[in-house]
Amino acid sequence: MKFLKHMVALTTIAFVVNAKAQTTNAKMNAFVNNLMSKMTLDEKLGQLNLPGAGDITTGQASNSDIGVKIREGKVGGLFNIKSVAKIKAVQKVAVEESRLKIPLIFGMDVIHGYQTEFPIPLGLSASWDMKLIEKTARVAATEASADGICWTFSPMVDIARDPRWGRIAEGSGEDAYLGSQIAKAMVRGYQGNDLSKNNTIMACVKHYALYGAAEAGRDYNTTDMSRIRMYNEYLPPYKAAIEAGAGSIMSSFNEVDGIPATANKFLLTDVLRNQWKFKGFVVTDYTGINEMTAHGLGDLQTVSALALKAGVDMDMVGEGFLTTLKKSLDEGKVTIEQINTACRLILEAKYKLGLFDDPYKYCDEKRAATDIFTDANLKVAREAAEQSFVLLKNKNNTLPLQKNKTIAVIGPLADSKENMVGTWAVATDFTKAITVLDGIKNAVANKANVLYAKGSNVAEDVAFEDRVNVFGKNLSRDTRPAEVIIKEALDVAAKADVIVAAVGEVAEMSGECSSRSDITIPEVQRNLINALLKTGKPVVLVLFTGRPLAIKWESENVPAILTVWHPGTEAGNAIADVLFGDVNPSGKLSATWPQNVGQVPLYYNHKNTGRPLGEGKWFEKFRSNYLDVSNDPLYAFGYGLSYTTFSYSDILLNKSTIKPNEKLDVKVTVTNTGNYDGAETVQLYIRDMVGSITHPVKELKGFEKIFLKKGESKDVHFTLTSEDLKFYNSDLKFVYEPGTFKVFVGGSSDNTKEKSFELVK
Ligand code: BGC
Repeated sequence: MKFLKHMVALTTIAFVVNAKAQTTNAKMNAFVNNLMSKMTLDEKLGQLNLPGAGDITTGQASNSDIGVKIREGKVGGLFNIKSVAKIKAVQKVAVEESRLKIPLIFGMDVIHGYQTEFPIPLGLSASWDMKLIEKTARVAATEASADGICWTFSPMVDIARDPRWGRIAEGSGEDAYLGSQIAKAMVRGYQGNDLSKNNTIMACVKHYALYGAAEAGRDYNTTDMSRIRMYNEYLPPYKAAIEAGAGSIMSSFNEVDGIPATANKFLLTDVLRNQWKFKGFVVTDYTGINEMTAHGLGDLQTVSALALKAGVDMDMVGEGFLTTLKKSLDEGKVTIEQINTACRLILEAKYKLGLFDDPYKYCDEKRAATDIFTDANLKVAREAAEQSFVLLKNKNNTLPLQKNKTIAVIGPLADSKENMVGTWAVATDFTKAITVLDGIKNAVANKANVLYAKGSNVAEDVAFEDRVNVFGKNLSRDTRPAEVIIKEALDVAAKADVIVAAVGEVAEMSGECSSRSDITIPEVQRNLINALLKTGKPVVLVLFTGRPLAIKWESENVPAILTVWHPGTEAGNAIADVLFGDVNPSGKLSATWPQNVGQVPLYYNHKNTGRPLGEGKWFEKFRSNYLDVSNDPLYAFGYGLSYTTFSYSDILLNKSTIKPNEKLDVKVTVTNTGNYDGAETVQLYIRDMVGSITHPVKELKGFEKIFLKKGESKDVHFTLTSEDLKFYNSDLKFVYEPGTFKVFVGGSSDNTKEKSFELVK
């Protein structure tokens, strides 16, 4: 009876929610229909146009080139324009001076924070903390919306298995399951549960699709893969973001099956619209349409028509839609229905954001003054940074450090505000970032003596530094010979009890168009590390990076390595918290670190091959391996140490056989066996042992981050059903297949307990 009442209540709620959604939709449709009935073709095409803002000044908004176009109804939105004053000024032109007064949508690359910067996404993903990740997106949305922005080009959910690719920094690593959870958390954080509020912003999932699989890790390069791989290993995070309600999606630069994603009907219509039922709009990446000419698909008119027909709605920067679609319509190369559909979807997005009700709703100077860069936001940034750090090595408990010693802080990243925030931090004021040196000084107050030396440049090669620095970040190059700079550091180190070496990649060594064929730490920095090690004093590497690095030598020679990625505004404070043990590190890698670049792509969820190498072996003739390096990663997916240790009980299953839709309970008891309280991410993997297609040797299917006081034990339960065992088969049907499965649980993909179970019909 109680159950029945409950069901009736639930059904009523569902009905009310549904009915509300239907009324909203009906209202929106009526509004958009009415508006579109008044629009000329030119005005419709204008909505599909998204120019970059350039450097509009407030006073000139109306007369600038953009201002003129806005007045003529030739602009649908603008991106990367910053400040309420500027946004208000151009919005005013749109809603007061254009014929139909249609408001503009304002986008920005709010990738890992707005003014308060959080760790780069690869770092954030290493926290494995979905609530925290959602919170960072919430803060980013609050700050961005307080400053006039209502649309972010995030989350970037491209699976990346190649650390040469600089944009691995912008995503969540190599795994589709983890990537999907993060995609959903980010969308929830940005959009909240009501897009029409003034502190939520529309998400734009990117880069659809497969952008992270660029050949040789070279940005914008060709992508090619089987449909099975696509569906099982690369598409899930985009789909997850769409299911979480993302309002827009960005097509990628790369080709898929020989057709650039920007004109790829299979991706943009068959999968996105027909299979996934996506209701939002599609925007291209920056000049994505124009670039199809270089891809070899034809002139601007041809490629613009191809993009529209494939399912693109908005043209970023290139103005191919604006300048050619009319001609294509006249020539019968596109239809008015196709133009109407695109226009409608963009107007709907503006409607959902509430811009027709109040075009200035994100332009509240008061909010801009109070909601940005608050103490509360900085607190989230500090926590996010701390949770993202991955302790790779800690020989003889080198860490945590004591606060009462003489500490030498050395390295090109020790005192560099500009490089704390990482790539794609377009809105922030990096001068507010806390350096390693400042953070350590803050933490020790007067209790320890803190010394500093730069120790080396980022790289010896000036031309390389210049290429890294095209955006003008200052690397404060020291023009003295390398030996002199190192000697100065050694003099400083001689006075210290312990050396903290802040080394690795500066911000722009990863990110867009920052691919590297050599993913080691630059030689001049390694020379510095080597010289510091020779002092015989304990050396701790605080390793900055936007990608997995090949640091075999460092891992063999340096006693402690803490990977801090590019941690954001609160960098130094968070680093100090972890170095001194006020916070116990708990990050786990979301992408494999190879021993050398020749192993790439190297990822944990690989296939077995017909000739797998025997367990624990390096080499066997006629097996799948290398002559000069073992198959093992240097650090595996899911790996990360803590100042404490955790032990795992054997896995307990509530049954050894399940039927479809029955639940399998997987239980382990985890115990904190060390001397510190700490968090552990318990990871669950499966392997489908026999099937109609080959399966990975391990696949992540669940995880839980738990906190254990020293000595404390907790039972962790995971539930598996046949749904979790599904995959796309060779007909691209999402199915499970009865048979034997293995389940693995542990604190890293390469350190797990295992049990088997059967799925029967
Ligand atoms: C990048 C996108 C970005 C866009 C707008 C492009 O170059 O690939 O990720 O959102 O620029 O700034």
